Amino acid sequence: MRTEQLVSTFIDYYEERGHRRITGSTLLPPPGDPVLFITAGMHPLIPYLEGRPHPLGRRLVNVQRCLRTTDLDEVGDATHLTVFEMLGTWSLGDYEGPLSLEWGYGLLTDGLGVDPRLLHATVHGGDERIGPDTASLELWQRLGVPVETTVDDNWWPGGADETPGPCGPDSEIFLWSGDGPPQSTPTRDDRWVEIWNHVTMTHRRFGDGSLAPLPQRNVDTGLGLERLSSLLQGKPSVFECDVFDPWRRLVPALWDLDEPSLRLVCDHLRSAVVIVGDGVRPSNSGQGYVLRRLVRRVLTVLRREDPSRGIEDLPEELVRHTLDHFRQDMRPNDVFRTLREEEQRFSRLLERGRQVLARPRFQGPLSEEDFHYLHDTHGLPRELITSLREG
Ligand code: SER
Repeated sequence: MRTEQLVSTFIDYYEERGHRRITGSTLLPPPGDPVLFITAGMHPLIPYLEGRPHPLGRRLVNVQRCLRTTDLDEVGDATHLTVFEMLGTWSLGDYEGPLSLEWGYGLLTDGLGVDPRLLHATVHGGDERIGPDTASLELWQRLGVPVETTVDDNWWPGGADETPGPCGPDSEIFLWSGDGPPQSTPTRDDRWVEIWNHVTMTHRRFGDGSLAPLPQRNVDTGLGLERLSSLLQGKPSVFECDVFDPWRRLVPALWDLDEPSLRLVCDHLRSAVVIVGDGVRPSNSGQGYVLRRLVRRVLTVLRREDPSRGIEDLPEELVRHTLDHFRQDMRPNDVFRTLREEEQRFSRLLERGRQVLARPRFQGPLSEEDFHYLHDTHGLPRELITSLREG
C-alpha cells in the first residue's frame, strides 16, 4: 500500500465515524506557544483538550507534520526521522479510550490488511496517580490481542518530558517487524515496533509536576505515517518506504555515501526543505538555528569526503517532490536560494575558522575561555571548532 493510499484510507475511515478533518498542518506553533516546532499532532489542539469548544466539533482527524530534535541522535536508525507526519484522531470529551482502540484495531486489520496475529498492545498498569486501565485491558483481551502492562511507558508524555500541558495514561499498539513468528513482548523485544499511541487525556500537568483533572476526558491518538508505511510495505527502515523513493534513486547517484551518511543527508535535507517551506530562515537562535544546524550537518558530512560537494547539485525534483508531499506552496527556487545562501555563509565561516585556528594560541588544548572567545569574537560554534580541529 502506497503512503498516499494509507492516508486516504485512514481519513475516510474516521470521517465515516463522524470525525471532521482539520486542514492545515504547519510545523510552526501558534503565537505565544513556547515550543519551537510542533512535535505531535495534539499540539495545536491543546486549548481544545483543555476544554475550549473546537469549531469542527468533538471528533477530529488530521495529518500533522511534526519535527522532533530530541530524537536527532536516533535519526538514521530504522524508525526515526527529524520531520515526519503524524496521523491523529481526537475525541474532545466525547467517546472513551476503549472505543478508540477498537476502531484502531478495525482500521489496522480490516482497513489496512494487517495480520492481527502480528499485533501486541500495552496498557497502563496503575500507580500512585491513577488506577490500572482495566477497560483497555479488557478490550484487548476481548479482541484476542496479547497485552502487557507497564507504568512509565504507558503515560504520555513520558520519560523526562516535564512540559506543562495535558497528559494521561495511554495504550500503545505494536506491530511485529521480525522475520519469524512473533515472540516475547514489546518491553523485552524491540522487534515489536510501536505504531500507534492512544492517550486518554485525563489530567493537566503543571510546571511543578503536580497534576489536576481536566474538565473533560479526551482521547488523543497519534500514528507515525512513515513508520507504519515502511512496515506495511515490508521495508526494513523508514528510509525505504515509498516517500523516500526519489531520494534513494537520486542521492546515491550524485554523492557516494555509506548508508548511515546517506540516511542523515536525506533526512536532514528533506527536513530543511520542509522547514524553509513553512517560512523559516536560518538564524542563530530558535527555529532558524535548528534549520542552520541541519544544513550544516549535511554539509559537514558531504564535504568530509569531497570538499567540492554542495547543495546546488541537489536535483530540483527532490525539492519539488518534498514540497508537494507536504502540500506546501513555496516555489522550489525560493527554497534553493535560502539553502544556497546558508551554504555560502557556512563556507565563509569555515574559511575564517581555519585561519583563526591556525594561530599559535590555538594549537594546544582549548580552554573554556578560548571557546567563548572563538564564539563571541569570530562566530565559531563549539561543534564547528571541534570538527575543524579533528579535520
Ligand atoms: N500525543 C501522543 C503522541 O505523540 C498521541 O498522539 O504519541
